[in-house]
Parts: sequence; structure tokens; C-alpha cells
Amino acid sequence: MLTKILFTFAAIKVCSAIGCDQPGFSKCICGDIEFRGKVQYVLNCTDVGFTNASVLSQLPPQIQVLIFTGNNIPELPWNVFGTKNSNEQLTEVDMSNNNIREIRGKTYHRVPNVERLILNHNQISTIFEGKIQQHPRVFSNFESLEELHLTDAFADNSPEDIAAVLHNIFINSDLSRLKKLHLEQNEISHFTDPRLFCDLRDLMDLHLGTNKLSGIDFMVDCLKHLRFIDLEANAIKQLSLRDLSILDSLPDRNQNLTVDLSNNPLSCGCDIQDFFNWLKRTRVTIRNKDKLKCQNDLQGNDQSLVELKQVDCPRTVKVGVPVSQCPTESNHTVTFLAIALAVCLAMHVYTHRVKLQEKFLKPVLHSVSNKVQYTSVGKQETQEIGV
Ligand SMILES: *[C@@H]1O[C@H](CO)[C@@H](O)[C@H](O)[C@H]1NC(C)=O
Ligand SMILES: *[C@@H]1O[C@H](CO)[C@@H](O)[C@H](O)[C@H]1NC(C)=O
Ligand SMILES: *[C@@H]1O[C@H](CO)[C@@H](O)[C@H](O)[C@H]1NC(C)=O
Ligand SMILES: *[C@@H]1O[C@H](CO)[C@@H](O)[C@H](O)[C@H]1NC(C)=O
Repeated sequence: MLTKILFTFAAIKVCSAIGCDQPGFSKCICGDIEFRGKVQYVLNCTDVGFTNASVLSQLPPQIQVLIFTGNNIPELPWNVFGTKNSNEQLTEVDMSNNNIREIRGKTYHRVPNVERLILNHNQISTIFEGKIQQHPRVFSNFESLEELHLTDAFADNSPEDIAAVLHNIFINSDLSRLKKLHLEQNEISHFTDPRLFCDLRDLMDLHLGTNKLSGIDFMVDCLKHLRFIDLEANAIKQLSLRDLSILDSLPDRNQNLTVDLSNNPLSCGCDIQDFFNWLKRTRVTIRNKDKLKCQNDLQGNDQSLVELKQVDCPRTVKVGVPVSQCPTESNHTVTFLAIALAVCLAMHVYTHRVKLQEKFLKPVLHSVSNKVQYTSVGKQETQEIGV
């Protein structure tokens, strides 16, 4: 009976979500609907052809979720949500796919309880004019922000630009409650400041998939709650010992860490050896470890990395031989130094041969003859015991 009443109630609520009688939002859908597992007041303006954001200055006071996607809003003005309403109940803002190019520093006000902000698939490019850098406090009014989605959010800028913008945002907008950060599909090839993420003190999940990273050039040991790094589909051919020790630093202090390295162009050659050996011993959880593939340059086909018995180094390397014996450039240096040292020593011996003979050779010869005697005695004894 009760379920039936609830069901009818929910059905009425869902029906009321068709069309919207809020002023300015007649093209949108609004009302209480089931969203993320609970009934919430959602205002949904998807693909309704807005060309500016002025309508957003008068959001309905009961709004809990704003979906404003697929419109064409190149610029977000100051105080986009107006100055009248407090929007106390607003917890989620999705402004994906709006062709947003510029976000002003004072765009977002009156968003004290927004936990999830989604700005995916935009063209944020104010970096070129330095505008975001002038207004780095762009997200500072999101006092409760836990998830920031910036997948494919930037115009095709240089990685330096994107890194600089992110850095300013993180430092100047206090995002210390942020738990999830999505930066996928932004063509990021490196981060200029290794401490980039360190201000996000509560960060748990860092999503960097489908970028162009070739290694791990950012610090993670400053993040006490980090548990997952997504590095899927980047440009990682191998990870250096330094990269690996960055990852190991978390389990080394009993902080569980999972890393996704799927779909990277890992090499099957000698340069993967550090990584290959690390895979066997690390306490970092590698998501889909069994499915990791490496690319075999010689045969040109993929091979399962974990099924490789050993890494194919140019020189025959015995299984279990440490990485340091893989041929490297330092090998040449060591050889050169060794030869130089030997030559020096020989010259020194030659020039001081008389003195040296008196000082060392005589006692040495003496002790050698003694040793020979001892050794032969020892040998006889062992043989006797053996018999
Ligand atoms: C919002 O509206 C669009 C288009 O009408 C629809 O496809 C989408 O499912 C809606 N979103 C939600 C959460 O109801
Ligand atoms: C903003 O868009 C509305 C229609 O959505 C239009 O009536 C209004 O003139 C536009 N304002 C500006 C400043 O372009
Ligand atoms: C880490 O993971 C192990 C096994 O999954 C679990 O037993 C342990 O409690 C975890 N430690 C932390 C700090 O979460
Ligand atoms: C490296 O050193 C070893 C012995 O120390 C030598 O056999 C090998 O040829 C060297 N490799 C190169 C590339 O120099």
C-alpha cells in the first residue's frame, strides 16, 4: 500500500518535470525527478539554444541540480547566478558542452553548497589573454566542491598554458575539500610544477587518462588521501626508477594506491626493464595488470607484459639479473675511467719503480711464499678430512 502511494507520488513528480513554468526557462525541463539515487529539484536546459547566460541570474530558489548543457555560451559573465538568490540547496552544476571560452574570475558566486561542478567539453582558452591568470580565484566560491570535471575542457593550448592555469586555480581557489579531479582528454604532455596538485589536500582520485604524459612528473606524496591515479591511454613507453619511486612512496607509508596504466605504448624492449621488474614486486595495485600490453618493435605486434618471462635486452641477460647491468651509456664512461686509472697507475709505478720495489715488492714476495706454504698445508688437511 505504502509503496503504491510512494510510486504514484514519484510518477506525479516525474510528470511534473516536463516543461518548466519558471520565468525564462520555458524551453527547459524542471521539477523533482530521481537524480543520483534521490528525488531532487532538477532544472534541465539541454540543447535549448541559449546564446548567453543571462537567464541563469534568476534560478528557481528550490533548485538542487542545474543541468545547462549543449548551448552556445562563449563567455560566462560575472555573477552568473545573480546576486539575489543564495542557492543554498544547489549541489550540482553541469555546464558541459557550451562552447565556453572565457570564465571570468568572479563568475561563480552564491554556490556555497555545490559539491560537483562539470565543465567538460568546452573551449576554455582565456589563458591566451592571460585572463584566468588575472582572475585565478575562479572557483574560490565553491566552498564545498568535492568533484571538478574538466574533461576536454580547454581549447587546444600548449601544455604549459594549461598547466599554468591549473596551477593558479589550485593555489588561489581554495579547493582543499576536492576529492575527485578529472582532467582527461586535454592533450597534457607534462606539468611544469611538480607540486601542482599539492594544494588539493583531500584529493582521492586523479583522472589524467587520454592525455600525452610520458612519465610521472608530479608529486603525490603530498597527498595524504590519494588512492587512485588514472593514466590510461597516455604516451608512456616506460617508467623510470624515479617515476616508480614516486608511486611506491604511498604504499611505503601504508597508503593504498591503485594506478591504471592500460593502453599506453609500453615498450617490450630493454628500456622497460625497470618497470617490468617493478611490476612483480610493487605494492601499488595496477588495475588490469594482466591486460597490460607492450609493443614489440621487432615483430611489430603487442605482447602481454606479464607473460614476458624476461625483458629482451640486446645483450643476453640472465633472468633475475638486476637492471643496472643492462647496457647503458655509463658503461662506456666506467670503462674509459678504468683504462685511464690503469694507465696512470702504470706510469706511477714505472717512474717510482726502484723505491716501490724496496718498499713493497720484497715484503710481498715474502708473504706470498709464506702463503703458498700455508695453502698447501691447508689443502692436504682438507683432502685428509675428505677421505
Ligand atoms: C536533460 O534533458 C535532456 C534532453 O531533454 C535529456 O536527454 C536528459 O536525459 C536530461 N537529463 C536528466 C538528468 O534528466
Ligand atoms: C541573451 O539571450 C536572450 C535570449 O535567450 C536574449 O533575449 C537577450 O537579448 C540576450 N542578451 C544579450 C546581452 O545578448
Ligand atoms: C589497503 O588495502 C588492504 C587490502 O586491500 C586493506 O586490508 C587495508 O586496510 C588497506 N589500507 C588502507 C589504509 O586503506
Ligand atoms: C659493458 O660492460 C661490460 C663489462 O663490464 C662489457 O662486457 C660490455 O660489452 C659493455 N657494454 C657496452 C655497451 O659497452
